This record gives sequence, structure tokens and C-alpha cells, in this order.
Amino acid sequence: MYIGADYYPEHWPRERWETDARMMQEAGFNIVRLAEFAWINMEPQEGTFEFGWLDEALETLDRHGIRAVLCTPTAVMPAWIARKYPETLAMQQDGTRIVWGVRKNNCFTSGAYRLLSERITRAMAEHFRDAPNVIGWQTDNEFGGPVCYCDTCRSAFQDWLRAKYGSLDELNRAWGTHFWGHLYRTWGEIIIPVDPSTHNPSACLDWQRFGSWLNVRFQRDQVRILREVCPQHFVTHNFMGLFHELDYYDLAEDLDHVSWDNYPVWGPPSVPYLASEAADVMRGLKKKNFWIMEQTSGPGGWGAYGRNPRPGEIRKVAFQQVAHGADAVVWFRWRACTAGREQYWHGILGHDGKGLRRYKECAQTATDLHGLSAALEGTTVKPSVAIIYDYDSIWAVRIQPGYAGNTYHAAMDRLYQALFRAGVNVDFIRSTDDLSPYRVVLAPDLYVLPDRVAESLRQYVQNGGVLLADSRFGVKDETNLCHARTLPGLLSDALGIAIEEYESLGQGDETQSITYKVLGLGALSGSYTAAQTAEWVQPQTAETLARYGEWHMQPYAALTRNRYGQGWGYFLGTVIQEPGFYDALIAELLERAGIAAVVKPPAGVEASIREGNGRRLLFLINHTEQPQTVTVPAGQMELLTQTETGHTLTLDRYGVAVVQLA
Ligand code: GAL
Repeated sequence: MYIGADYYPEHWPRERWETDARMMQEAGFNIVRLAEFAWINMEPQEGTFEFGWLDEALETLDRHGIRAVLCTPTAVMPAWIARKYPETLAMQQDGTRIVWGVRKNNCFTSGAYRLLSERITRAMAEHFRDAPNVIGWQTDNEFGGPVCYCDTCRSAFQDWLRAKYGSLDELNRAWGTHFWGHLYRTWGEIIIPVDPSTHNPSACLDWQRFGSWLNVRFQRDQVRILREVCPQHFVTHNFMGLFHELDYYDLAEDLDHVSWDNYPVWGPPSVPYLASEAADVMRGLKKKNFWIMEQTSGPGGWGAYGRNPRPGEIRKVAFQQVAHGADAVVWFRWRACTAGREQYWHGILGHDGKGLRRYKECAQTATDLHGLSAALEGTTVKPSVAIIYDYDSIWAVRIQPGYAGNTYHAAMDRLYQALFRAGVNVDFIRSTDDLSPYRVVLAPDLYVLPDRVAESLRQYVQNGGVLLADSRFGVKDETNLCHARTLPGLLSDALGIAIEEYESLGQGDETQSITYKVLGLGALSGSYTAAQTAEWVQPQTAETLARYGEWHMQPYAALTRNRYGQGWGYFLGTVIQEPGFYDALIAELLERAGIAAVVKPPAGVEASIREGNGRRLLFLINHTEQPQTVTVPAGQMELLTQTETGHTLTLDRYGVAVVQLA
């Protein structure tokens, strides 16, 4: 288990480095991440490299048993690059270039920037290849911007389209350019679709994919060098969880493992669903455990700062990630910097550099996690429930939400949060993945549905799977054209329904919005409110599990269940306002699939299981500020206290427990 901090020796006098390294060692730290913004310190002028300071920092850390992840420093270009090669600065929509002086300034098609990036990467790799405590690399920092609108990017987009479609006829067909007379007769005519709310939706989706690919290519150029020069080191990148400007599956492909940056401590204390959800998405990118490369350790902010993590909160945030598959916890940052835009982004240590409350809590966490590391070895999260996480649909829904307030993440969150409350783990998977390992597959807002994916979902149900689809399912093909079929298209038989009409229930404005009454039947019994959207679902072979109250909606179902082959196809044609509806729906799906949670956590308590190597570890995390009692299997070992469980286990406020299940 690696535990440590993001460390910036270049911000502090050399005389302090020894103290920092000693304090880290005393806290049980064994890893730092270094140098992601230190290009200017390593290449003060073009082609002149200075690594002595970093050698010295690494040696100091090494004397205290601390290893290092080094970063390619390309997230911030030195001032000399901007001055000498102005075309490396990204161009904004108005035709002006970004003013240098923040970070993430560069254009990804600039040949100069790509060469300079490769050169610093190679120089670093060759210099640090044999440094005894360097174990791996982080590429850049948080890929994801900026979008550049320069002529080089436009030509590169045209080239990318030519490689993808082969002929203009094919591009014109795929984009449906017969509409509004937008047919292209030469590649050079193709514009950057700058406005996703008015330009051709198919072009907009390809532009988004192209932008993602540019980042992937930029990273790949660095990874190639790192692998060639430092084959013994791992290569990772610090992802941003639910950030979705890039196709993270593609970005993860060239890496050994995913790392991510987790900053959940904002606003009033609440159940941090999103931090678990993001962790599960991160684990899903490579279907393996991940690192936390940055994590809240103090109040954060660039101007005003947020709240301080309360006693116990830093520790439980770390345990939450480990419970979902983190094999390393690195806190941001070691010490708050006295200078620059992030002066108020506080770290483990404040500006004064003293080892106070937050430092002590990190040290306690490190002790606890090191104590667990033997038990954690070889374990990961192995759910029976999967949610399809599809970047094409995320982007296509954003380009045309259909109904007001529709986002992919909102649809996914409604289901994820109900699973969280039920104490059931989830995998996030690609739409093209093998579905057979899962007993339940949820497809929220799966708007872009290529025929091969539809066929795999159909077979999944036929072979015994339990599938849930919902509003706007399968509307588009992979080029973002509408399927010319009655919805739900190729899934009509599996879901046992037909949707000939649909409507939006609101325009985002309360006075213009309507709701429908929904009556749940059987296990779903109760009265609910349908909002935002209604697909007028006609059951064919499906049975109705929830129906509408309004006169004109009588023939239509809000929720259906269909027996198909060996499995079950469910369809929810609206958004229900009451979270309790989703709890009942998830309970129905789990029961249908024969999945029972090991514990039913009380509200605000999270349960997650890591398993492998013949061990099953149940993590319980109290996200509330009151003690909580959980009913647990008796006679099992709680590993943090080394005590045997009774029939219940009480967690202190922000308390955690790890129960090894027999
Ligand atoms: C992260 C970034 C760090 C730091 C932190 C706080 O997104 O990677 O470098 O800026 O946010 O702002």
C-alpha cells in the first residue's frame, strides 16, 4: 500500500527538504508525487536541462524510505515556449490565443508543442531511469483542456475525418448533411462545429471525439518514450473521476493503471455518493484497482477557500476510496504554498509547516492502512451489477438533451444512489463489454445505441440477464442520426414494449412544466410523481409495474417488466421525483436476479466489499456525524480493532470498520 502526498520541493528552501522527508517518514508515508508543474525548473531555456535539484530532493526522500512518481511537466508550458512559439497557445473561439499565465494553455496539434513535450519527456526519462526510488510516471496533469480552434486543429480535424470515413460521400451520409443543404464537396470546406446547440449534431459528436483523441495521442507520444527508456516503471495519469470531456477508456488504454484526484469535501457534510461513483467509474476504465493521486487534506480554493475536513473526515474519505479499489492514497498537498494562485488550497500542513491535527489524522490513516495491506493484497471489488457508462451517449445527450434537465449523469445517479443505499457494489462498463459476468445490467440514458450493442443487450436478456433501460434509450446510431425505427428498436421484443410517441414535461421553467401522477403496483406500490419526460410506453408482452393517473395516459405504462428468454427486460419511461421509487425499483431488480446485500446499511452508512485471494473484506463507512449501528454477520474479525463482531457493530461519527467475512 502506498500512502503519501503531492510534494513540491521547488517551492521551499533546500534546508527544509530534510524536515519534510523526516516528517513524512514519521507519518508512515512511503510515496510522493513530484514535478508536474516544474518544466521551467528542469528546462530553464530551450534544450538546457537542469535536474540537479530534483536529484537532490529524490535523494533526501530516499534516505527516509520514500519513493516517487515523477510527472511529465507538460500541463504548464514555460514562458519561453509561449514567447518563442506563440502557436503553441490554444486559440479561443474568437480567434485570439489564450493569454499565457494559468495552466493547460496548449494547442494539442501544435508540432512545436508536441516536439517540446517529447524532448522533455525523453530527457527526464533518461536522467531518472536509474534513480533508486523512482517507481513510476504520471503523464501531464489532469488531461482535459483546452479546446483549440486554430487552423492547424481544423485541418487536423479534416484529416481525422478523412481517415475515419474514407470518402466524402460516406461523411455526408454519416452526418446527414442533406439537411439544410450542408453537403460537403471538398474536405477543406469542413468547419469546426463551434456551437453544439445549433450545428449539426453528428458533426458535433465527431468534434468531441476528435478532441478526446488529440489528448490520447499527446499522452501516447509520451508513454511510448517512457516505456522505451524506463520499462521497469509504471505509467499512470491523474484522471478526474466523472469529468467527461474525454473518453477516459481510451486515455486509460495506454497506462498501467488509472489514478484519480478526489476532492469531495465541499459544502455541508453529506453522503458523498459521487466520490464512490467516481471511484467505481475509475476502476472500470481498466477493470482493475486504481490509485488516488490527489485527495482533499484541507480547505481548498483559488480565491475563497472551502470548509475544513472535520475530525475523522480525512480518514473516512481515504477509506471510502480503498473500499472501492484504491491501492494507494496520495493527499493533495503536503504543505500549503505561500505563493501563487493556490495559496488557499491547504494541505496536510498549513503555511506554517507544522505537523498539526490534519497531519496527525493522515498519519493515523497511514498506520491503519499499512496494517490492512496484507489483507488487501490481491483483493478488488467484484460486483454482480453493472451500469453501462458510455461517453458517446454522455456527449450526444449533452448536444441534444431531448427533455429539459436531461443529463447522462443525472440518470445514472438516480440508480447508483439507490444501489449505494441498498449496500450493493457496482461496476461501470463499456457498452461493448461482455455482459455475461453480471446478473443485472442498468443502461441509464443509453441514447447512442449501435446495432451490435443492441444485439448484445438482447442476447443478455435472452440468456437470463436482468436489464433496465429508461427514457431516450436507443434513439441514436453511432453517427448520432436517429434510428428510423419504432422505439425501442431492436430491443422491442426483449423489453416487450412499443414507444410510438413521447414528450417532454417541462422546459426547465416551473410555470411551463407539468407532472403526472404515477401509481406503483405490487412491490412498487405507492404514489409517485413523474416529471421531465414521458415516453408513451405501450406494453406488448410486458406487464405494467407502474401506471399513470391522468386520463390520456391510461393506455401507457411508466414502468414495465418483460419475461424474454431466460431473463427480464425492464423499462422506465419517465423520471420519478421520489428517491424511494428508485429504492423499490432496485430492490425489485436485485430480487429478480437473486442478489442479496451482505448488510443493509442504515442511512448515511456505506458498505462495500473487496474480495480475492480467498478473502472477503466488508468495509463500513459512517458518513454521518452521529454514531451508527449496523447489523452485521456475527463472529467475524474486525481488522482495525482486531475484535470479533457481535450481531451489530457501532461506528463512531465518521467511523470506519473492515470486517473480514468468513
Ligand atoms: C487539481 C490539480 C492540482 C491542484 C488541485 C487544487 O485539479 O490537479 O494541481 O490544482 O486541483 O486546485
